[in-house]
Amino acid sequence: MKETSRFDLRRMQSSVCSSDDVAVLVRVLAVLLLLVVAVSVVSTSTEQKLWAWSVSSEEEISYRPPTSLMHNMSDEQLFEHALRVSKLSKYRSRGTPKVAFMFLAEERISLTPLWDRYFRGYQGLYSTYIHSSQGDYAVNSVFYKRQIPSTASDSKSFSTIDAARRLLANALLDLSNERFVLLSPACIPLFNFSFTYKYLMSSKYSFVEAFDMPGPGARGRYTPKLAPEVGLSQWRKGTQWLEVSRRVALVVVNDTTVYPKFDRLRSEMIVQHEHYFPTVLTVKAAHIIANRSITWELWRSGQFEPVTFGMEDTTEQLLRKINEEHECSHNDKPTAVCFLFARRFAPSALWPLLKLAPTSLGFGSRETY
Ligand SMILES: *[C@@H]1O[C@H](CO)[C@@H](O)[C@H](O)[C@H]1NC(C)=O
Ligand SMILES: *[C@@H]1O[C@H](CO)[C@@H](O)[C@H](O)[C@H]1NC(C)=O
Ligand SMILES: *[C@@H]1O[C@H](CO)[C@@H](O)[C@H](O)[C@H]1NC(C)=O
Ligand SMILES: *[C@@H]1O[C@H](CO)[C@@H](O)[C@H](O)[C@H]1NC(C)=O
Repeated sequence: MKETSRFDLRRMQSSVCSSDDVAVLVRVLAVLLLLVVAVSVVSTSTEQKLWAWSVSSEEEISYRPPTSLMHNMSDEQLFEHALRVSKLSKYRSRGTPKVAFMFLAEERISLTPLWDRYFRGYQGLYSTYIHSSQGDYAVNSVFYKRQIPSTASDSKSFSTIDAARRLLANALLDLSNERFVLLSPACIPLFNFSFTYKYLMSSKYSFVEAFDMPGPGARGRYTPKLAPEVGLSQWRKGTQWLEVSRRVALVVVNDTTVYPKFDRLRSEMIVQHEHYFPTVLTVKAAHIIANRSITWELWRSGQFEPVTFGMEDTTEQLLRKINEEHECSHNDKPTAVCFLFARRFAPSALWPLLKLAPTSLGFGSRETY
């Protein structure tokens, strides 16, 4: 028995220790070593990845815009929050830049089918916000659940300046919003979404109309009580239908000098909303505003409201003439396109607009209706 076992052992030893086998063993050990190294490298990198992932997901959770637009912040809290969130600019590269379409509406947006068609196919490149207590929209509409909270008990909320600033602050909470258009329910788009997107994203200026003019309708509305925050040389007039970059939107939301003055003079000044935005931006951001609006309106002399176009007036000719009759510049170069939006269009204009959209406005194919 002993002999056999010694023999076996020797045989085993000899078999283990033959030069061929040593080579095999070395290879096996080398492979094992490689495996250990590989496993440890993989596990550290997975660990790092897991760690990085958990941190970034935490950041995303705290800075991602809420899926619901509802909140119960006061305007003051909201503005502070919007400014705080916007300082986290290093996270802004996360999303594709979007255009925020903000509607200042007193009633339901009746041209909804036109807008639904306008945005179709461009998810992720736009967001919508509505300042209005009214209006139910279909689940598949771009306006579904897009109303921003507005403190109804706050009598100030009827001021269009407050409503516009509140819209801007809410839209700033989404860090991927890069450009902000303020529209009314009577506005229509004049071009397709992709054209509008490029026009706005490539602009180094914000489209805020701001002009100075002698006479009671403009310079005559200035009151020395606005000094020293606003001097007569900084006093401007312009339509409230504006388009601003994130930088300019922040200037408006961060305005703690001109706004309080306007607020205090509410009862003494008339049509403040024709002056606040052009004036505050001339004071604080004159070099980055184009001093013109991208929303066309038709004013007839002696009238206090711009012309409203109904079913009969809404023709191919009207839409074509809007940009043909004007000259302006885009990034300091002449452009054939001054206006991307137009108003005022009555609810009755919906049908001709839907019919004209594929040809005159460049969106919505004929098969879709
Ligand atoms: C505000 O909303 C938060 C949750 O969103 C809630 O916890 C809080 O109680 C609300 N506060 C008021 C005053 O309604
Ligand atoms: C707001 O304005 C103050 C100065 O008035 C400035 O210190 C601050 O950085 C501004 N905040 C933002 C987010 O622009
Ligand atoms: C959008 O409109 C522009 C200018 O009218 C046109 O050149 C472009 O082809 C249109 N794009 C789409 C996707 O319809
Ligand atoms: C807009 O007007 C201001 C003066 O109020 C001027 O400084 C600025 O350069 C103008 N913007 C453009 C794009 O011309």
